[in-house]
Amino acid sequence: MQKNLTNKTIIITGSNSGLGLEAAKKFADLGNTVVLACRNAESGRNAERKIGKNSLFIPLDVSSRESMDNFVMKFGQKFSNLDILVNNAGVMLHPPQKTKDGTEITFAINYLGYFYLSLKLIPKLIGSVNPKIVSVSSISSYRVGKINWDYFDPSEKISSFKEKREIYEHTNLFRLMFSIELQKRLSERNIPIKSIACHPGVAKSKLGRYFFLAKLIYALPVMSSSKEGAKSIIFSCVNSSLNGGEFVGLNTKKQHKGDPIIVAPNPIVEIETQRNKLWQMTVEKYGIDL
Ligand SMILES: NC(=O)c1ccc[n+]([C@@H]2O[C@H](COP(=O)([O-])OP(=O)(O)OC[C@H]3O[C@@H](n4cnc5c(N)ncnc54)[C@H](OP(=O)(O)O)[C@@H]3O)[C@@H](O)[C@H]2O)c1
Repeated sequence: MQKNLTNKTIIITGSNSGLGLEAAKKFADLGNTVVLACRNAESGRNAERKIGKNSLFIPLDVSSRESMDNFVMKFGQKFSNLDILVNNAGVMLHPPQKTKDGTEITFAINYLGYFYLSLKLIPKLIGSVNPKIVSVSSISSYRVGKINWDYFDPSEKISSFKEKREIYEHTNLFRLMFSIELQKRLSERNIPIKSIACHPGVAKSKLGRYFFLAKLIYALPVMSSSKEGAKSIIFSCVNSSLNGGEFVGLNTKKQHKGDPIIVAPNPIVEIETQRNKLWQMTVEKYGIDL
């Protein structure tokens, strides 16, 4: 394990709150430059003030391709290279909504944003020492027994609780499949970027904000803190012995709490044809590829 991650440039999406904010604090303390990629200017600037030295807010809404393009341009004007991208922004049980681009909101933020931003930032990662793309997923990815492809950019409204829960689970599985497939494709092209997925267990944050019961659960005193939850993100970024293609989870049976360790993903993730299908569907629909 590399102990001194320092002097790196690290982008964290959704770093004004929860796990992203905690990871950003840690990386700034270690002497890295952390780019706070947040959708709300006031919250982004607040986070920048809280963290202080070594942090910079650049606006980013991962539900909008225009915003992601602008972010990449602004980042490029300020930085010549990128060491680590942490795909962290996410939502759970979001009310029915389409994005400006016409995409279902949870799908857009939780999956498409990861795919699009990662591919856009690859040119900035190439040339850095030990560059990484770390993608946050969830233990909810294990709950998908068989992929329901209707959750790939659904045209129907996602309105019942069951649908909202299932699209959250599916998008977390898609994030994980993307991370593993990206590693395979990077390796085939001899691009030395490592793609690593991780999950935080269950930790206090604002993730439950869209559903009253979840809001209560995600604030319970027995829950791990956001700082605890950020451990798997930090481990994935700091650990230089990871080869790429791993899923970093926690060392307990249910993986709700614990210390970071490499874990086996949902067996669906290991099925290459399923990962390929997801990748191809994304490329065909959005016209972006590695
Ligand atoms: N906490 C857990 O137990 C847990 C468990 C499994 C997985 N996760 C995953 O961990 C990640 C972080 O969640 P959290 O628990 O820290 O929740 P959180 O406190 O709600 O943080 C989510 C962050 O994502 C940002 N975000 C949402 N939509 C965005 C968009 N369109 N563009 C840019 N940023 C956006 C939020 O910004 P705003 O504040 O502006 O909305 C916020 O900064 C998520 O991907 C979540 O799925 C968390």
